Amino acid sequence: MSPAEQWKNPLRDPLDKRLPRIAGPCSLTIFGVTGDLSRKKLMPAIYDLANRGLLPPGFSLTGFARRDWEDQDFGQVVYEAVKENARTPFKQSVWDRLAEGFRFVSGSFDDDDAFDRLAETVKQLDAERGTGGNHAFYLSVPPSAFETVLKQLARSGLTDQPNGSWRRVVVEKPFGHDLESAKELNRIVNNVFPEESVFRIDHYLGKETVQNILALRFANQLFEPIWNANYVDHVQITMAEDIGLGGRAGYYDGIGAARDVIQNHLLQLLALTAMEEPVSFSPQDLRAEKIKVLSATKPVGPFDKTTARGQYVGGWQGGNLVPGLHEEGGFASDSTTETFAAITLGVETRRWAGVPFYLRTGKRLGRRVTEIAVIFKRAPHLPFDDTMTEELGQNALVIRVQPDEGVTMRFGAKVPGTSMEVRDVTMDFGYGHAFTESSPEAYERLILDVLLGEPSLFPVNEEVELSWKILDPVLEYWASHGKPEPYKAGSWGPPSAEAMLARTGRSWRRP
Ligand code: BG6
Repeated sequence: MSPAEQWKNPLRDPLDKRLPRIAGPCSLTIFGVTGDLSRKKLMPAIYDLANRGLLPPGFSLTGFARRDWEDQDFGQVVYEAVKENARTPFKQSVWDRLAEGFRFVSGSFDDDDAFDRLAETVKQLDAERGTGGNHAFYLSVPPSAFETVLKQLARSGLTDQPNGSWRRVVVEKPFGHDLESAKELNRIVNNVFPEESVFRIDHYLGKETVQNILALRFANQLFEPIWNANYVDHVQITMAEDIGLGGRAGYYDGIGAARDVIQNHLLQLLALTAMEEPVSFSPQDLRAEKIKVLSATKPVGPFDKTTARGQYVGGWQGGNLVPGLHEEGGFASDSTTETFAAITLGVETRRWAGVPFYLRTGKRLGRRVTEIAVIFKRAPHLPFDDTMTEELGQNALVIRVQPDEGVTMRFGAKVPGTSMEVRDVTMDFGYGHAFTESSPEAYERLILDVLLGEPSLFPVNEEVELSWKILDPVLEYWASHGKPEPYKAGSWGPPSAEAMLARTGRSWRRP
């Protein structure tokens, strides 16, 4: 069929990737269902998927926690979470249908009886709601509880996959706190579930703008020829947050900014930015390229000059006076946990030799923004007087991951007038202007992919271990060399972060 004939054909090929994919019969059980993540992200995402018609008719959601709840109490908690945090409008008919599939199992992780009741619940779901023996288990629990829950799932037969049905496990970060512990965690998980049934969440990979990195690079002729050390001076990957850590000390103290987000989100952004073109977009081909580029990525030293870390103190942010880390409570008074981290990495391949990748992240910074900025070298020759180009910077391509999703290109243009003067201007693509569809939440995409068994957006054990291998030398250096430097809330981090780039004649962007 010619493309023109295909276009006229109202029945598109069912394998057409543009068609919405609807999950087959299945259920999802969430452990840690009373936690923040569940209320803010998971429950609303499930409702949004139902609202978009992407869940199967008999879909069921089971909550597992210590609370002494009945199914209706759990339903009420989901209802409040949906009302508060769902992305799409509330529709009573969608809700009523979804709520029919809510179940709650009360018990602690070491309670055999509770897991036997869960196994019984799952069996009933198959009989009553046609879930077909397909069940996913979401571990939204601290890593210390992973082993117990996994062993219980195996003991109670919940990991068996009878008659071609499937069982999958979803694991939330942190995946360990260094290479050794990550290996141990992977061993524990893989003892119970084969790797193809393990879905490790890195929610940045569920963001539209992050998936757009691949479209931008590999669907265009424009960028790839200059995406290398011949043209690129350096790359800056920034994930800045304006929020502080109030209430999250229990999780964050002892972990810090590098383990919390550089090890996972920022290294995944680096991998997508720096990897070679995959043979195809199959999960295997995509992962092969990410693994290759992560294997070639090394921290650049000496770390006293190429890294920086800080801890925020009180200051003015957006017109409000906000407290410092230690006034917020929950942190040990001598805590050396960093809330700002910046590191320098090198990707040792022909494409990137000599190009520094600067990664930084922090809490209570000037504003919330995540971006990847590819900064190009200056033109080799400028046929202008120096004064004409005094205000000309370097060309840049900035992928704006959030909040103002899009891409910006920076280049020089003539200032209008009778004289010749060149200054930086920008050209913008904004998702909000170019498309009418709004972007789904990352968790919508990822939960749907788990139910579909589509693994492309989930890092495999090797990626996780390689990421720790990259970060571990810096963490070890920090552990034995001093403390994080204070920085004011509302600023862009400690002075050492500025100094780290200034030494090479560069500076951080002020997004
Ligand atoms: C999480 C980190 O993975 O990402 C948090 O643990 C951080 O510390 C969060 O606040 C940021 O996510 P997002 O999607 O708001 O950028």
